Amino acid sequence: MFRNISRSIINNIARPRPIILRQQQLHQQLRFFNNSKILSHGHLHKPKPGEELHITFITKDGEQLTYEVCEGDNILDIAQANNLDMEGACGGSCACSTCHIIVDPEYYDNIPEPDDDENDMLDLAFGLTETSRLGCQVKMTNELDGIRVALPAMTRNLQSKDFK
Ligand code: FES
Repeated sequence: MFRNISRSIINNIARPRPIILRQQQLHQQLRFFNNSKILSHGHLHKPKPGEELHITFITKDGEQLTYEVCEGDNILDIAQANNLDMEGACGGSCACSTCHIIVDPEYYDNIPEPDDDENDMLDLAFGLTETSRLGCQVKMTNELDGIRVALPAMTRNLQSKDFK
């Protein structure tokens, strides 16, 4: 029996397989992590008339900028689409704190509670406040229409060189 098993293993390893077959197998093993068009990442759609939600950013210089956005847009995407100073180093995967925002207390309770991952990242945020959130984790809803968020004076982007 062992002789049969080892012979079949040897046959499999030793027998050269056609290159095309190996390429087909490789293609079948590829996994794709998204199913949306790459070109549409990071772009927001204009809201339909009557469905606009409003958000105001207060920049580090104290300037107030208001935008009309759609339900479901997250605050990181809104900031980046409007060239505001929000880094979003991890691309919105809740693995940094560079999208830290400070939410107007009047709106803070209208946002769903942060999950454990967001709380862990918020602990690393520079200048954490009682109403701090991560912009990539907050999506616009009707309850948040008119929300005001401030961009903190600094963000902390930890890199391996910071630990030397
Ligand atoms: S962009 Fe990194 S946590 Fe939001």
